[in-house]
Amino acid sequence: MDQFKGKLAVITGAGSGIGRALATRCAREGMRVALVDVQQGKLQSLASRLEAAGTQVLSQALDVSDAAAVTAFAQRCISELGAPDLLFNNAGILRIGETWSHSAEEWLKMLSINVMGVVNGLNAFLPAMLEAGKPAHIINTGSVGSLVAAPAMAQHTAAKWPCAALRNASRLI
Ligand SMILES: NC(=O)c1ccc[n+]([C@@H]2O[C@H](COP(=O)([O-])OP(=O)(O)OC[C@H]3O[C@@H](n4cnc5c(N)ncnc54)[C@H](O)[C@@H]3O)[C@@H](O)[C@H]2O)c1
Repeated sequence: MDQFKGKLAVITGAGSGIGRALATRCAREGMRVALVDVQQGKLQSLASRLEAAGTQVLSQALDVSDAAAVTAFAQRCISELGAPDLLFNNAGILRIGETWSHSAEEWLKMLSINVMGVVNGLNAFLPAMLEAGKPAHIINTGSVGSLVAAPAMAQHTAAKWPCAALRNASRLI
């Protein structure tokens, strides 16, 4: 895919950092963007800025670990804008600390966002992308933690390693 104008990018975690930069760049390429983030204020300020510059934006505050919310957003997005040409499963959190320092609740939160957030995005959008039958790409934001384990990064590594597995599995489609 080398033409981006008029195409659709879906970006999770668009409220700040890499997601915000991706949204800005996609808009600059003339793409329409569908943006989600758990932080409504940051999402709204980005959406307003992009819309003021002429970009068609669909945005919704939601938690990517909530499968029903991601599915509902995907249905709205596909019905209003069509299947995505680019899907960035980018939302993620980082917690650093010794392996034994995280509570079970903290582990579940980390895995729910960094692993299930990606799975929820794939489940919600990939069938429509396949059905559309046009060139499209999915980018699941991993980390160096998807490749190597580092000290005090057990939780991050455990939650980012699956990005590599999902990438390899996706190649089998
Ligand atoms: N910046 C780095 O050096 C680095 C390194 C390795 C991996 N990453 C990965 O890159 C991605 C983006 O990181 P970043 O540096 O831009 O971080 P960031 O904190 O600046 O941005 C992450 C965004 O995701 C949103 N988010 C968090 N939990 C969410 C949830 N449950 N549902 C919806 N949105 C949620 C946050 O509100 C935030 O806007 C993450 O997956 C992160 O793990 C970043």
